[in-house]
Amino acid sequence: MLVDRHCHLVPGVDDGSQSLQESVAMLHAAQKAGITHVICTPHCKRSHFDKMLIEERYGQVLPYATAMGLHMALGYEVHYDGLLAYGTDRARDLCTRRTMNLLLEFSLRGIPFGYEQTLYDLTTQGIDVTIAHPERYPEVQDDIGVARNLVEMGCHLQLSANCIAKGPFNPLRTTASKLYKEGLVSYVASDAHRVDDYAYFEQALERFPLS
Ligand SMILES: [Fe+2]
Repeated sequence: MLVDRHCHLVPGVDDGSQSLQESVAMLHAAQKAGITHVICTPHCKRSHFDKMLIEERYGQVLPYATAMGLHMALGYEVHYDGLLAYGTDRARDLCTRRTMNLLLEFSLRGIPFGYEQTLYDLTTQGIDVTIAHPERYPEVQDDIGVARNLVEMGCHLQLSANCIAKGPFNPLRTTASKLYKEGLVSYVASDAHRVDDYAYFEQALERFPLS
């Protein structure tokens, strides 16, 4: 079983797949990469979030996944600002269906003041929080202790596979390596937006093998 916990293959709802045809091609690429379980995570941002449209488009892809023998589930990549706009008390609606798992991303401009309280509010509801691509946040790049703090607060950390596409001295790649060596990484995900992104996923799993 190989689970991809973060990808953008629901068509026409974010900056990922733009058509059903592209989504089906992504499913084939995922399967070729060895993935057996796909958790679709379209963006949930403050500026635009249409849950009904996402569910409808997800429903268009699901039969193709099922016919291929792939297990698929719907979640979201919840932007911190989007979460606050939606309401942390309603965060269960943004978890992967039939789970209490929530994928949370911070702004690339920085981890916001007060995030500890928000994480506390989520975890006390029983929500299992995964932080998307910690290697991208400036605070984590500057101080790995910030990532350690997130883990100590009960969060899982998820590397996005395209960090390995960068040069060896790129901060994304060096931070990803540091996080991995420190044992802070729970998951590697494709974060695929396009078919070609699954090639990075295979390479990232080789570089950052997780049991
Ligand atoms: Fe993403």
